[in-house]
Amino acid sequence: IVSRALQTDMVIPNWITFVDKIRSLYQECKEIRDGQVATYIPQLARMSPDLWAVSLCTVDGQRASFGDVKNHFCVQSVSKAFNYAIVASDLGADVVHSYVGQEPSGRLFNEICLDSTNKPHNPMVNSGAIVITSLIKNKINMADRFDYVLNQYRKIAGNEYIGFNNATFLSERATADRNYALSYFMKENRCFPKETESLTDALDFYFQLCSVEVTCESLAVMASTLANGGVCPITNETCVAPNPCRDVLSLMYSCGMYDASGQFSFNVGLPAKSGVSGAMIVVVPNVMGICLFSPPLDTLGNSCRGVAFCKSFFQKLVSTFN
Ligand code: DON
Repeated sequence: IVSRALQTDMVIPNWITFVDKIRSLYQECKEIRDGQVATYIPQLARMSPDLWAVSLCTVDGQRASFGDVKNHFCVQSVSKAFNYAIVASDLGADVVHSYVGQEPSGRLFNEICLDSTNKPHNPMVNSGAIVITSLIKNKINMADRFDYVLNQYRKIAGNEYIGFNNATFLSERATADRNYALSYFMKENRCFPKETESLTDALDFYFQLCSVEVTCESLAVMASTLANGGVCPITNETCVAPNPCRDVLSLMYSCGMYDASGQFSFNVGLPAKSGVSGAMIVVVPNVMGICLFSPPLDTLGNSCRGVAFCKSFFQKLVSTFN
């Protein structure tokens, strides 16, 4: 990296100017006081609304981080993107999409509905994500399946911080009526693979993966692996196969920001995925992965500071790449 940097042969050659702009954007968005922290479980409700972190990792391994970047938080729905990438790498898109569609649902993320062929609309809404997790290594026991995904996350994160928040998992499970209702509805419509014998196991696995902990820095590396065609920029290890990597970015672009996905694609034009913890990843393909973290959410469930940052990033900084 050093020799390439000295030759200004990096993907963002004017790095110092670029980082200065990111710093001022970070400061600007810090002033935002909009939104509410998620309250449906105490573990999320207790998060400080003041937490605000931005971390970038380029495909050639340059890093920049601002704010509370070492704070641990749960990935929540951001896990949906990685779970899809992992299972599509294992089974191929044809198998995966025989269970789950590719269309934005136009409905809330946890709505009890299926598409016209009785499949979940896409892997980024709860219905699709629950079926996706039920496809991951479903011939082995639950403990080994959890280990498998955690190890995949660690590879994708270049061995940076990946943990597990058991309190969040237990709380999610204790307040899971909607996801249970959704899963029984899907069972009635034969949405699950034949290997899924227990809906409790299927949902526990889904909640466990929502309860995986990261930092803004480690999640930025994970986003950067997606920006880099599935190869982790820190370790050079291939973690996601090339086609699933392209496919997950398409799905993030069209469905990653809940009901605001169309608006976000229009305003920002980049694949992104958000979660109720206030976590968000944005991918600039072939350039970098970005992680934003700030708990207050807008009415559609996306981080207020995260979305504002992305809009300004696109409007003000796109010229940096020219
Ligand atoms: O399924 C749930 O209710 C949550 N654990 C999903 C988390 C999430 O981020 C969806 N978000 N708005």
